[in-house]
Amino acid sequence: MCGIVGYVGKKQAVPILLDGLSKLEYRGYDSAGIAVMQNGEISIRKSKGRLAVLREKLEAGNPISGVMGIGHTRWATHGEPSDTNSHPHLSRSGRFAVVHNGIIENYIKLRQRLTEKGFEFISETDTEVIAHMVEYYYNGNIIETVAKVTERLEGSYALGILCADMPDTFVAVRKESPLIVGIGEGENFIASDIPAILSHTRDVYFLENNEIVMLSADKVDVYNLDGEIIEKNPFHVDWDISAAEKGGYEHFMFKEIMEQPNVIRDTIQPRIRNGKIVLDDISLTADYIKGINKIYIVACGSAYHVGVVGKYIIEGINRIPVEVAVASEFRYMNPVVDDKTLTVVISQSGETADTIAAMREAKRLGSRTFAIVNVVGSAIAREADDVLYTWAGPEISVATTKAYSTQLTAIYLLSLYIAQELEQLDDEQFRMHIETLEALPDNIAKILDNKGEIQYAASQYYNAKSVFFLGRTLDYAVALEGSLKLKEISYIHSEAYAAGELKHGTIALIEDGTVVVALCTVKKLFEKMLSNIKEVKARGAVVIAIAEEGHTEIEKEADHVIYIPKCGELAIPSETVVPLQLFAYYIASLKGLDIDKPRNLAKSVTVE
Ligand code: AGP
Repeated sequence: MCGIVGYVGKKQAVPILLDGLSKLEYRGYDSAGIAVMQNGEISIRKSKGRLAVLREKLEAGNPISGVMGIGHTRWATHGEPSDTNSHPHLSRSGRFAVVHNGIIENYIKLRQRLTEKGFEFISETDTEVIAHMVEYYYNGNIIETVAKVTERLEGSYALGILCADMPDTFVAVRKESPLIVGIGEGENFIASDIPAILSHTRDVYFLENNEIVMLSADKVDVYNLDGEIIEKNPFHVDWDISAAEKGGYEHFMFKEIMEQPNVIRDTIQPRIRNGKIVLDDISLTADYIKGINKIYIVACGSAYHVGVVGKYIIEGINRIPVEVAVASEFRYMNPVVDDKTLTVVISQSGETADTIAAMREAKRLGSRTFAIVNVVGSAIAREADDVLYTWAGPEISVATTKAYSTQLTAIYLLSLYIAQELEQLDDEQFRMHIETLEALPDNIAKILDNKGEIQYAASQYYNAKSVFFLGRTLDYAVALEGSLKLKEISYIHSEAYAAGELKHGTIALIEDGTVVVALCTVKKLFEKMLSNIKEVKARGAVVIAIAEEGHTEIEKEADHVIYIPKCGELAIPSETVVPLQLFAYYIASLKGLDIDKPRNLAKSVTVE
């Protein structure tokens, strides 16, 4: 997610904007810029890289003075990190400057329309489209103009807009992407997040969707899209800076778990248009796909666990054989790969050394490579033949949650794209899968609303010495991730086991008090899992079961039951993983451990 700051008052804007942006650095970014109203004109400085690069540019160039401006730290989505792609973006005449946080899903269509009207584009971003649209629709009333522009935008946005005709007033608007208004004494602010303005004021408005705010040094007015004034109640922030960076939560991991409904929506929605899967930057042709004889999914850690789920999804829908390998093994296992193998590499950071090496090995063997990556412009994104970005935004906590979840939906989208190209599904089947994906954000939000149940279960077992995660097929694939989450943040030993395999040896470890998490959400295997629960209970285990709503018979067998909303089978992993993320989080929290930075771990393992 990008960071936005805006200021109007009596002080010089540049230092206030830079300081505000520095308070948003924790959100992750790859470029930064500011625009300041100076003598009736908009002056811009922006650059790829850290804020320090922007500061150097400001110190090296002509000084910018002015008491009103907007600033931005960019987390690239459309368009790689570069000076040109960084924000703010100017309109054709230079009379409007825009900063944007979010994703405009219909920007390609809007860009085509503007191009037909003679507009020229210098960046690859969706944001530049907005800057030209503001100029195109400007009729002297900026509120009406913003309303006209935003009514034509599909997707998520928080916008800050400077207009050269308004030397002491600027506007902002939001839909889905957060934006707050800071109310000061003779000065006012906008920001993506509270930390950016906390040193100036603790009184804020939280803008709601489709609210437009107009700010001057002594006045803040909020309007709806009809141009009517809206009364807002200020909120007094009593958080400290550290809590504010985590959205008021104690840890980034919890904040990122809670962000999952929104980032899954951000990742899915731009790719589903008029009931079709649209993967804009993918060049997999139907002819190429018809020739695929195997798909290899290669990754590390949690991303590897996504691959295990992906095998079930792709073999289930596309009936193409899928092999899944840990990247550090793939490179040395003499894999059977040729020019008819599609190698899918999955990586949050896009910088994992083992995965990069595995991708290069696959290419050396003649395979086409397809990357699912969260960081635009990362090494894997640059080297793969195709890239499908997850739009999870920056993931700060070392233990992945929202990136893992968006990777699951990305691989589901890939499978449906292949099915679409090969005409493998009839309309009814295709619609069922689309509806399954579209229902996910709300279903996950329901699970998050029920987190108290999960917290209670965690409170019973946070002193456990080891925990087993059992499941079958898709549930087994998710058990792998649940086990890793627990290990990496609570330091409790854990194992994920295919439930049917337990009796072939490992059940010898089950004894009085052994904690077992049984995933029972795959409908056709529910009875089998009930038997497995009886098996371990008979040997003294305590069982926490995850089951789909309605399967209340499980309450007779398990000690705790966490229910997930009903959903299409292939979306089960996206739901079932959430209670496991929370289970691990609450246990680690009760143990008072450093949840966001666990011992021995790195967010991106850039060494082999
Ligand atoms: C995730 O919780 C782990 N921290 C780790 O397994 C991670 O998934 C793995 O290192 C791969 O990282 P990547 O997705 O950035 O390639």
